[in-house]
Amino acid sequence: MTQKSLIERDRACTWHPYTQHGLGRDPMEVAAAKDAMLTLTDGREVIDAISSWWAILHGHGDPVLVEAARSQMETLDHVLFAGATHEPAVRLAELLVEATPEGLDRVFYSDNGSTAVEVALKIVLQNFAQNGQAHRQVFIALKGAYHGDTFGSMSVGDPDPFFESYRPFLFDCVRIDPNAESLEAAFAKLGHRAAGVIVEPLIQGAAGMRTNSPEFLRSLRQQCDANGVPFIADEVMTGFGRTGSLFACEAAQVRPDIMCLAKGLTGGVFPLSATVVSEELFQGFFSDDRNKTFFHGHTFTAHPVGCAIGIASLQLCRERKVPERLQTIGKRLRARLQPLESNPGVSHLRQLGGMVAWDLVGSKTGESGYLSQVGPALHQASLDMGVLLRPLGNVVYALPPACTTDAQVDQIADTMLALADRFA
Ligand SMILES: Cc1ncc(COP(=O)(O)O)c(C=O)c1O
Repeated sequence: MTQKSLIERDRACTWHPYTQHGLGRDPMEVAAAKDAMLTLTDGREVIDAISSWWAILHGHGDPVLVEAARSQMETLDHVLFAGATHEPAVRLAELLVEATPEGLDRVFYSDNGSTAVEVALKIVLQNFAQNGQAHRQVFIALKGAYHGDTFGSMSVGDPDPFFESYRPFLFDCVRIDPNAESLEAAFAKLGHRAAGVIVEPLIQGAAGMRTNSPEFLRSLRQQCDANGVPFIADEVMTGFGRTGSLFACEAAQVRPDIMCLAKGLTGGVFPLSATVVSEELFQGFFSDDRNKTFFHGHTFTAHPVGCAIGIASLQLCRERKVPERLQTIGKRLRARLQPLESNPGVSHLRQLGGMVAWDLVGSKTGESGYLSQVGPALHQASLDMGVLLRPLGNVVYALPPACTTDAQVDQIADTMLALADRFA
C-alpha cells in the first residue's frame, strides 16, 4: 500500500481557518521553524514576514521561551484558576500591571484575542447592568474593525466582508470614522445607551492596516470621560512593541480603561490572552452578593505554561529592546520600498513601528477588496520568492519578528518590489 502524503491526509480530515477548500489550493507543508524562517517539508525555506498572523514576536524556537515552557511543564503543567492560584499567573499579572498604562490594575486571563475582547465587552455590560445603568448597551467601534470571531467580538467588528451570515445574531454597534467629530456624533445619537468605545489604537490590522491618530485617541479618552463610559483598547495586534513602543496607547499617550492583549503576550508561541482592566471596573463586581460574580471562565484560563512563557517574553522585550528593534526593521523596510512612491499602481505606502503596508490600486486583475483574486495571487507569488506574505485583498503588508536579520528584511522588501512590478 502506498503511503499517503501529508497533503492527501490533510485534505481528508482537516478544516482550515479562513480557507475556501473548494478552490483546491494546497496549504504549505511546514516541517519546522527557527528564528524568522519556516522550513517546508520539501526543504525550501520561507521567511515568516507576517509573524504567523502577527503573533511571533522574538522569532520561532527562541531557546529562552522553549526553556520557560519546558521547566513550567515539569513543575506545574495545568491547574484550574477558579479557587486556585499559582506563581506564573500572579507574576505575569504583576508584570502586566506594571507595563501597561497607569490605572490598569487587574488581569483577567483567557486563551486568545477574541476571548480577550469578549471578556472586555461582558465586563462592561455586566458592570453597567448590576450598577444601575442597564440602559447602557451599545458599543461604538471603528468602521472596518476586526476584533475576533466570537459573537461579541464579531458584533463590534464590521460585518463586511466576513460576518454577513451572522448579521441577524450580532448585537447593535455604531461604527464611526476615526475622528473626534464622528465620535461626538455617535455619542449624541446614542445618549445614555452608549456602553463604551472599542478601538485598535494607532492602526487597525485586519481592516487593511488603516492608521488612526494620537489626537483622535486623546479625544476619545476625553469623550469617554465626559460620557461616563469605558475606553477599550484592543492591542491584540499592536501590543508588545509592534508600533515601536511597548503599547500603542503608550505611544499615543492615552490611558484606556481596558486593554486586550494576546498574540505577542507569549511571544506568539502559546495561546494565552489577558484583559487588563481598571480597579474601578473590578470594584463594580466586588460584593458579598454572588449574583455579582463575573460568570466567565475557560478551562485553560491562566494556563501556567502560557504564563511562564509570558513572563520570559516580557523580560526578553526589555532585555532585547524589542520595540526599538521592530522600529529599526520597519524603517529599513520603508526605506527600501521607496521606489513604490513613484509607482502609479501603488498607493498609501505606510510604516508604523515594525509594520509596513501599501495598497495595490492599479491591480492588473482590476479587483480590490479582501475577497479579490489578487490577494491569493500575491500570496503565491511571494511564497515562490521565499517570503510568506498574506495580503488583505489588495493591501500588502509585512510585520516580521524582531530577530529578522537585515538581509532577511531586504529580501522581504525586494519581494514586495517584485510584486509591485508584476501586479501593479
Ligand atoms: C486586533 C485583533 N483583535 C482580536 C483578534 C482575534 O484574535 P484571535 O485570533 O487570537 O482570536 C485579532 C486577530 O487577528 C486582532 O488582530
